[in-house]
Amino acid sequence: MLKRIGVALTIGTLALPVAAQTLLQERLKGLQADPVALKASVEAGRKAAFFCANCHGENGISKTSDVPNLAGQNPAFLLEQIRKFGSGERKDAFMQGLIKVLKDDQPVQISLFYAAAALPPSPADARLAAQGKQVFDKLCVRCHGEQAHGNGEIPRIAGQKLAYLQTSITRYRDGTGIRNNQLMSIATAQLKNDDILAIANYLTQLP
Ligand code: HEC
Ligand code: HEC
Repeated sequence: MLKRIGVALTIGTLALPVAAQTLLQERLKGLQADPVALKASVEAGRKAAFFCANCHGENGISKTSDVPNLAGQNPAFLLEQIRKFGSGERKDAFMQGLIKVLKDDQPVQISLFYAAAALPPSPADARLAAQGKQVFDKLCVRCHGEQAHGNGEIPRIAGQKLAYLQTSITRYRDGTGIRNNQLMSIATAQLKNDDILAIANYLTQLP
C-alpha cells in the first residue's frame, strides 16, 4: 500500500506544473518579508475569500465540525493544499471544483489572509485529551512541534475542529486515496480508532 502511494505521488509530481507552484511558494515568502506588501495582500485575500466564508467562516473559523478552520494556519500549507485540490491529489468534490476559479495571486493572497487570523481553542474531553497527549508526544511531535503549530508545509493542527481531525487522521491511516501523504500514512499506520479520538481531543483544545 505504501509503495503504491509513493508511486502515485511521483507520477503526480511529474505531471504537474512544478515550476509554477515553486514560484507561488517563492512569492508567498517574498510577501511575508515585506510588511507593506503583506498588508495589501491580506486585504486582497479577504476580498477574494468572500465566497469561502460560506463554509470556512468570515475569519477562517469554520461553521461546522467537518469543515477545517483556516485561521492561524501556516500559509505555505494552505497554498500547497490549494494546489493539491487543483491537481486532484487531494479529493473533495466541492473544493476541487471551487479552487479552479481562483486566479493569479489569489491563492497566495487568500493563504496570507487566513494565516493572519486568530484561532481560539475549542472545548474537549479532559481525560481523552490527556491520553491523546501521550500518543502525540510519541508519534507526532517531531514534525508538528511541541505546540502542534507545524511549520511551512507541515500544518498547524492545534485548535483544529474535532470531527475534521478525526476524519483526516483516519483517511491517512486507511489509505483511502482522499488524502495522500506518505509521511502521514507511516505516522498513523499503527493508530487504533480510540487513539485517534484521544489525539483529536488533545489537539482541538490547544491554543
Ligand atoms: C461548501 C463549503 C466550502 C466552501 C464554500 C469552501 N470550502 Fe474549503 N473546504 C471545505 C471542506 C468540507 C474541506 C475539507 C475537505 C476534506 O475533508 O479534506 C475544505 C478544505 C479546505 C482547505 C484545506 C484545509 C486543511 O486544513 O487541510 C483549504 C485550504 C480550503 N478548503 C480553502 C478554501 C478556499 C480558499 C475557499 C474559497 C475559494 C473554500 N475553501 C471554500 C468546504 C468548503
Ligand atoms: C514525518 C512528519 C510527520 C509526522 C511524524 C506526522 N505528521 Fe501529520 N502531517 C505531516 C505533513 C507533511 C502533513 C501534510 C500532508 C498533506 O499534504 O496531506 C500532515 C498533515 C496532518 C494532518 C492534516 C491537517 C489538515 O489541516 O488537514 C493531521 C490532522 C495530522 N497531520 C496529524 C498528525 C498526527 C495525529 C500525527 C501523529 C500520529 C502526525 N500528524 C504525524 C507531517 C507529519
